[in-house]
Amino acid sequence: METVYLSIDPINPRHETVMAAVRFLEQEELVAFPTETVYGVGALAQSTNAVKKIFAAKERPATNPLQVHISRLNQLRNIISCLPAEAEKLMDRFWPGPLSIILPAARQISAEVCGRTGTVALRMPSHPVALALIDEAGPLAATSANLSGRPSPLSADDVKADLDGRIRAVLNAGRTGSGLESTVLNLCQGSYQVLRRGGIAVEEIEEILGKRVEVAVQAHARQDHYQVRTRVSIAKDEKEFSLILNNLNSSSGTVGIVYNDFSSKIFVEGDVPAEARIYRLNLGQNTNVELYSILRQAEQEGLNDLIFAPLPIDSKGVTASIVDRILAAANRGQISGPA
Ligand code: TXA
Ligand code: MG
Repeated sequence: METVYLSIDPINPRHETVMAAVRFLEQEELVAFPTETVYGVGALAQSTNAVKKIFAAKERPATNPLQVHISRLNQLRNIISCLPAEAEKLMDRFWPGPLSIILPAARQISAEVCGRTGTVALRMPSHPVALALIDEAGPLAATSANLSGRPSPLSADDVKADLDGRIRAVLNAGRTGSGLESTVLNLCQGSYQVLRRGGIAVEEIEEILGKRVEVAVQAHARQDHYQVRTRVSIAKDEKEFSLILNNLNSSSGTVGIVYNDFSSKIFVEGDVPAEARIYRLNLGQNTNVELYSILRQAEQEGLNDLIFAPLPIDSKGVTASIVDRILAAANRGQISGPA
């Protein structure tokens, strides 16, 4: 299949371009689109045939559910079977924005979308292109537009690297998105559980709900994301980091060093071999987290190793969300190709 790349203005999307993408969706094809977090790939939520294509294109296990992306609250009617007051409060405060809320699915939603869980993750993205697309097409079952297990895409080029020839079209709004996916919150059966930390801090959710929320990300983080060919490791403390830097020499192969704004050791020229790549990653805020770009770049440049400066312990807010992702990248170690 030839994938069509449709350029679109991220702030004032042209109606004709949006409609071109809608026509593909109506033909039960897949379209990738920008969101405020990462690029997603979507299908009409009501078309089981189209939804199945997402799993095939991404090589995603059928048991891993998709989120249903909506643009207006009145689309919720045939998607969920009940709307608890707590969920409404959260939608009021954080939507449109990077919070996915899991609720019991309505019977109209196919088992394929839900990964046969009987529940559905709802997300209302805030990107103007995503909203315009969903407004015209209706609710989209969607997920990040990468091959299963790979870093999420922040540009049409990233999408192309993973899904070219596997999907019908990409709405190309340039480099966009915070780089931090939505927080996934389970509100089924009276539970208050964060399954993935993301763009909305756990503490902010607790403040709105007026109660503690359980963070259950470990098992989830292991099954998700970041298979890259570069080996990723993290120095456990400043001492180890200094030792690693001191032992680097021109025979270490091609290495990338990722400094962060919490590490006390700042980059000094001469600390590392001249051919090493130096990256800086801001852990203190969620505007444009460059982690995925660094992982993809390191791989494209053929780096053998990517070494992260020590990470803050017991981090809070979105810093914790970013740290989760770095840990996931390192746990994976070296993997020869996408699963
Ligand atoms: O920011 C985002 O959330 C992006 C953009 C494209 O919206 N999407 C995204 O999709 O990151 P994905 O599929 O890569 O991550 C969604 C996560 C998955 O790990 C999935 O297992 C979980 O949410 N999830 C979705 N529906 C669920 C459900 N019904 N129960 C439990 N977990 C669910
Ligand atoms: Mg993903």
